[in-house]
Amino acid sequence: MIEQLLNKKDLSREDIIYVLNSTEEESGYLFKYSARKKEQHVGNNVYLRGLVEFSNICAKNCFYCGIRQANKKVKRYNITDKEILTAARYAYENNYGSLVLQSGELQSESFTTRIENLLKEIKRLSNNQLGITLSCGEQTEEVYKKWFEAGAHRYLLRIEASNPELYQKLHPLDDLHRFEKRLESLYLLKKCGYQTGTGVMIGLPFQSVEHLADDLLFMKNLDIDMCGMGPYIEHADTPLYQYRDQLLPLSERFVLTMKMVALLRIMMPDINIASTTALQAIDESGRTKMIQVGANVLMPNITPGQYKNDYALYENKPGIDKDIEDFKDYLEIQMKSAGNQIKYSEWGDSIHYKLKRKQPK
Ligand code: 5AD
Ligand code: SF4
Repeated sequence: MIEQLLNKKDLSREDIIYVLNSTEEESGYLFKYSARKKEQHVGNNVYLRGLVEFSNICAKNCFYCGIRQANKKVKRYNITDKEILTAARYAYENNYGSLVLQSGELQSESFTTRIENLLKEIKRLSNNQLGITLSCGEQTEEVYKKWFEAGAHRYLLRIEASNPELYQKLHPLDDLHRFEKRLESLYLLKKCGYQTGTGVMIGLPFQSVEHLADDLLFMKNLDIDMCGMGPYIEHADTPLYQYRDQLLPLSERFVLTMKMVALLRIMMPDINIASTTALQAIDESGRTKMIQVGANVLMPNITPGQYKNDYALYENKPGIDKDIEDFKDYLEIQMKSAGNQIKYSEWGDSIHYKLKRKQPK
């Protein structure tokens, strides 16, 4: 049954729901199928992006997030430009190929200018060799344009949940947290020329398998170039924690995430899919398993050591206190054992994006 279904040209909503509900035996087939799709379309390759979580200061109050503005228990930090540039140099010299600059969401002129200057400086210090992804939330078109011109060429902005009603249950009802604004930002990013990435959390309270099927169709309809999605993991100092008894067990959130990645690889075979850290919080080899079923991007955290513990979006966030040098060897071994090859010093741009640009509209 699942074999015939996966061979169809386009998966319908019902097909996707069937696959998300599939048995262990059936999902074994799914994972083999998606692994084959990956090999055919993007190769058994893994691209690295050194992740710098440069500030945990955020103006927003998403109900699920540990670093939400109202959480007074968080020690706020904002690493210096010098530290960011040192991390960028590290990524460049260690052949990561690309860098991701991530922070909480702030909208101000000084923030805009700071990022703009950093982008130019990173381009300069790496002789234009380092690719740069930004993940700094919703901004105006003018800001997105400025940053694009300064050297950022990819942008990650998760829709978090593509169903407006579900989105509303996860966010305060105010102007800072409007679903329409988030969607609009994704369109602006595409318009400005970014390789645009989005994603959702999996296993949220109030979320059904139907919502997840619609999330996948949303990404397909939006024609995204990249995706990062991972399991929702509860955090004690957040409003959503009160619903923890309604959540799926972590092991089920894990399997659902794997199925989502496998399905997305089948539905959008030539996009970039990140193997996200949240999966690692559930299973130590989660990241490698995700690579095996379809992901092709890894984002090792290279944020200067003393700050890593303060970027706690969720509990048990991994990669903390791991020595970066040991970690590089560890990754190399893990990826080899998964039949994949790390492509050092390459941007690893989304093939989907490149093909789209070549085709006349
Ligand atoms: N569990 C999992 N992921 C989370 N994020 C925020 N809070 C959580 C959580 N509790 C994710 C969001 C955000 C990204 C930076 O981290 O999807 O976009
Ligand atoms: Fe801020 Fe992002 Fe956390 Fe929302 S998810 S509170 S925007 S850091």
